[in-house]
Amino acid sequence: MENRQVNIGIIGLGTVGTGVARILLEQKDLLETRSGLNFNLKTIAELDWSKERDLDLSCVNCTTNAHELLDDPEINIVVETIGGYEPAFSFISKALKNRKHVVTANKALIATKGMELYKIAQENDVDLLFEASVGGGIPIIKGLREGLVANRFESIYGILNGTTNYILTKMHQEDLDFDDALKMAQEKGFAEADPTLDISGGDAAHKLAILSTIASNSFIPFDKIYVEGITGITKMDMNFAQSFGMTIKLLAIYKRYNDGVDLRVHPTLIDNSHLLAAVGNELNAVFVKGDFVGNTMFYGPGAGERPTASAIVSDIVDLSRDLLLKEGEKYCNRAISLTQDVRLIPVEDIENRFYLRFTTKDEPGVLSMISGVLAEHNISIASMVQLESHGKDNFVPIVLLTHKALEKSMNEALEKIVRYDFVKKDYLRLRIFE
Ligand SMILES: NC(=O)c1ccc[n+]([C@@H]2O[C@H](COP(=O)([O-])OP(=O)(O)OC[C@H]3O[C@@H](n4cnc5c(N)ncnc54)[C@H](OP(=O)(O)O)[C@@H]3O)[C@@H](O)[C@H]2O)c1
Repeated sequence: MENRQVNIGIIGLGTVGTGVARILLEQKDLLETRSGLNFNLKTIAELDWSKERDLDLSCVNCTTNAHELLDDPEINIVVETIGGYEPAFSFISKALKNRKHVVTANKALIATKGMELYKIAQENDVDLLFEASVGGGIPIIKGLREGLVANRFESIYGILNGTTNYILTKMHQEDLDFDDALKMAQEKGFAEADPTLDISGGDAAHKLAILSTIASNSFIPFDKIYVEGITGITKMDMNFAQSFGMTIKLLAIYKRYNDGVDLRVHPTLIDNSHLLAAVGNELNAVFVKGDFVGNTMFYGPGAGERPTASAIVSDIVDLSRDLLLKEGEKYCNRAISLTQDVRLIPVEDIENRFYLRFTTKDEPGVLSMISGVLAEHNISIASMVQLESHGKDNFVPIVLLTHKALEKSMNEALEKIVRYDFVKKDYLRLRIFE
């Protein structure tokens, strides 16, 4: 490597790409002091150069054609920050085949096509790093791969989506309905105009797929993960949760058992005394239990120009240190060695405590019918709250918390309960964190 200079190309100068360029230009001296390397932002490919970006790009080659930097033999590291599947997949594949290291924040792509990309990286003896794809600025991937490398991971619980965490926090703290909290998140820039991927749990599932692939050393495609979003939660549920000393969070769950792993994303009641209950607004956190270290928690901003760029540049510096080594001396290919085939435990076979909310007719015998069906399926009730009847239709909400029960038994019991004409069909079932 000439003059310890690392040549970098960025594809996509949007929110994240702009942050990466800003750090490479504005923190150049700091990075050089810390790494002994000279980071040269050589080329940026971006489709729309008319946007105002507040960056001095006078020393950077600016183009609309990504192939210009992908074909440039002087570029050592390519940063992909365009997002989506295509042309991101083709650009990353081409960069790896041209023996360039790649850094990306593209969780959707890594969670679905990661396996193909790791293979291409391995075949070409280069690396593909993606620290920014989970938890924005939080160094969770490095934390699992390096800081906690000595551990088998018993469980990982993540609040991995800032949009849903912001919405749920506002519902909890300001007694807002879901729609109002979503609107507020959109006004503050914490939710997209189309928030579907976030509120459906899909984005958190992408991130869980990435974390569980690292934790289990086995590629976990995100479509194998059981996912429920937060759209069914009302401010009434928040108030009920509060009355039980709990709050509701969208939790991404990895749990290792002797016969496989349990992977789920769903809204979950968490006791207010747990650290995860205190993770508010748009922040993210990952609670990791390793067999040697015990419990640890990683906490911080999960998105945004500066935090996400901070994670990308940490990958760039890591890869650049490898560039100094001669052929054959390299640390190793970091693009995950997938050695195990892990069994995913079907969600029906998992035991949970449950929160159940029904709307039922306010008349004698209703509760005993419901508890009877639950008992038939070995589900016992731990506590119950019933509100007084106000409406003309004489229907009232009833909330039950259960002891541990099999998900399969709960599904069967719910199917029977909602067949009664004294129960409305719009029930809600949530799990309780233990
Ligand atoms: N934003 C965050 O806080 C955050 C956090 C973590 C991870 N990420 C991930 O980071 C990635 C980028 O997100 P972002 O928020 O920065 O997106 P963004 O603001 O939409 O930026 C993407 C940029 O890439 C440009 N682009 C699209 N196709 C291109 C092409 N073929 N060649 C060159 N430039 C192209 C776009 O230009 P046009 O606008 O003209 O199409 C746009 O300027 C995504 O994978 C996202 O999931 C984002």
